[in-house]
Amino acid sequence: MRDMAPDTSLAMAEAPSATPPILATRALCYEAGGKRRIDTVTLSIHARRRTMIMGANGAGKSVLLRLMHGLLKPTQGAVLWHGQSQSAVARGAQAMVFQRPIMLRRSARANLKFALGARGIRGAACAEQAEQGLAMANLSDIAHSPARLLSSGEQQRLAVARALICKPELLFLDEPTSSLDPASTQMIEDLVNAAHAQGVTIVMVTHDLGQARRMGDDVIFLHAGQVAESGRLSDVLSQPRAPSTRAWLQGRLYTDATL
Ligand SMILES: Nc1ncnc2c1ncn2[C@@H]1O[C@H](COP(=O)(O)OP(=O)(O)O)[C@@H](O)[C@H]1O
Ligand SMILES: [Mg+2]
Repeated sequence: MRDMAPDTSLAMAEAPSATPPILATRALCYEAGGKRRIDTVTLSIHARRRTMIMGANGAGKSVLLRLMHGLLKPTQGAVLWHGQSQSAVARGAQAMVFQRPIMLRRSARANLKFALGARGIRGAACAEQAEQGLAMANLSDIAHSPARLLSSGEQQRLAVARALICKPELLFLDEPTSSLDPASTQMIEDLVNAAHAQGVTIVMVTHDLGQARRMGDDVIFLHAGQVAESGRLSDVLSQPRAPSTRAWLQGRLYTDATL
């Protein structure tokens, strides 16, 4: 049935700049350990699209994601949410999934209820949305199990469901499948794509070229804390212009071909 679904991403891909960006950075800089880790980054994230952030280890992808989500304070520059300065309200409309899920020492269900409670959702609505999250992640049968004892794939599904039941406008994911097997990776991709089909904007760091091709509408390549190039993913991957992107892609393809 999934093959029969209309491809709304194509229609949206045709006019990425027709609407103002949901999130933008202006000359964003971040210094740590005496070095500029993010160096004058100006970019736009377009609503309802899936933007992949790629680049070598240490390029600054995780730092950039944390800056965009307001978890780090920029040394210089600004993050704009719907054209306004990033605020606590903006952060409430966003959610983030980390490479390694952080689970509370309680059941899978209680982890979801805690996240909902933190956003002021209590009582019957909280119970109902928690069950929806468990069903979404295909974890209803083990809802009572301690979250920390779930497999890494189950924990990551729970982390994605926990982010999505809070109904974010934008979901950040930092290499969410890097330690998962193909079946678990597929389940996470399905969850993220289902959220995207519901209108959630996706910003995802991945080092997996196949995943980027499967999921990405747009791509931002980072190199040494700067945007090397960005644009529609199919264009950038077919005709990369930046030498660093070309080098990264060649290395990646070589690696992929040797697997
Ligand atoms: N708080 C910090 N103090 C010092 N160095 C940091 C800090 N945070 C990140 N870095 C460095 O900044 C660079 C970019 O890190 P990161 O964004 O994690 O890279 P990646 O692209 O692999 O996600 C790395 O060299 C990392 O070691
Ligand atoms: Mg990282």
